[in-house]
Amino acid sequence: MRKEYLTWLEIDAKAFSKNIRTIRKLAGPRLIAAAVKSNGYGHGLGQILTLLKKEDVEYVAVHSLEEARLSRQGGWKRNILVVGYIPLVDLKAVIDLNLELTVYNLETITILGKLAEKSKRMINIHLKVETGTNRQGVEFGKISRVVSLIKGSPYLHLKGVSTHFANIEDTTDHTYANFQLEQFNKIVQKIHSLELYPEYRHTACSAALLLFEDTKFELVRPGIAIYGLWPSKETYLSYRLAGGSNGVLVPILTWKTRVIQIKDVPPDAFIGYGCTYRTSVKTKLAVLPVGYYDGYDRSLSNLAYVLIKGKRAPIRGRICMNLMMVDITDIRGVKLEEPVVLLGKDGKEQITADQMASWAGTVNYEVMSRINGNIPRVIV
Ligand SMILES: Cc1ncc(COP(=O)(O)O)c(C=O)c1O
Repeated sequence: MRKEYLTWLEIDAKAFSKNIRTIRKLAGPRLIAAAVKSNGYGHGLGQILTLLKKEDVEYVAVHSLEEARLSRQGGWKRNILVVGYIPLVDLKAVIDLNLELTVYNLETITILGKLAEKSKRMINIHLKVETGTNRQGVEFGKISRVVSLIKGSPYLHLKGVSTHFANIEDTTDHTYANFQLEQFNKIVQKIHSLELYPEYRHTACSAALLLFEDTKFELVRPGIAIYGLWPSKETYLSYRLAGGSNGVLVPILTWKTRVIQIKDVPPDAFIGYGCTYRTSVKTKLAVLPVGYYDGYDRSLSNLAYVLIKGKRAPIRGRICMNLMMVDITDIRGVKLEEPVVLLGKDGKEQITADQMASWAGTVNYEVMSRINGNIPRVIV
């Protein structure tokens, strides 16, 4: 079955289950909202939902209405928390699809309240509050107005209050995260003083869940960790320094393709657009059907390598839109349609998302979520 694919992703079900067990242990009795936004961080929304259905996870967190719709169509019957934005004209879908919406605008709350009242359905909302990230979130000075609007909407139920940290994964200095937590607690107190009592406070992304007991409250929202990746080197370091063991998270994705041509290139020949690589010796090249359209970053030109027969094959020349060339001079026995690992393990060798991110000058989040959604994903 898998042999039919030219380029594909393999998702390791066993490793995924291990990551969820790790997260459940860290979360304890709190509810878990697994972040599956951005096509399940590039792993494939459908595939990740299939795996999550077997796990002890109460929520998925999606960004958009489209992702929420796909999740319901994919048979996800548990809670869906929308953390992004739903346009005002589409808010009826919150009721139709039984979604829990993150709110931070008076307009959204007003219109949703009216729609809920009209349909006589109680709608659960989560208020996002501003604590210092200055992304989505209601500012402290507007909390009273928002609370009175919610209290005046008989069919809106404030189920949660949330925030998102600005600087919890990029540093080992957690002063700013602690400041945000203080702000969050102040705002929650303010909401309580106005006699509204949301059951679920939630602030914890993966880094917070891994490092800070105080951020966990009643619900946690891990993303990158469920896919077996660390939010950052600093998070990993802090976790280990605090006595955490190695190997608690296991990457679940392997990105594969196949050789589509093999050729001998003479010395002094240029390879690819821009003539950025020139051979110095007789070279055996393999052409691969993957390029930046597929999400393989162009900045990896002449820099990264792929794995063939468990050995490193360096990229020669520029990554094209749909193709790249790799040097297989020292790898014996490579045949047409030979499998190639672009990301993941092959024998004793491994290319990690972190390695790829560092080559590309970005983060593992971007590497993963940029993998083209059209590439087939297979659970193994
Ligand atoms: C609101 C919100 N919650 C949770 C997460 C999960 O974060 P992470 O992948 O770092 O665990 C994200 C991801 O960016 C997010 O935007």
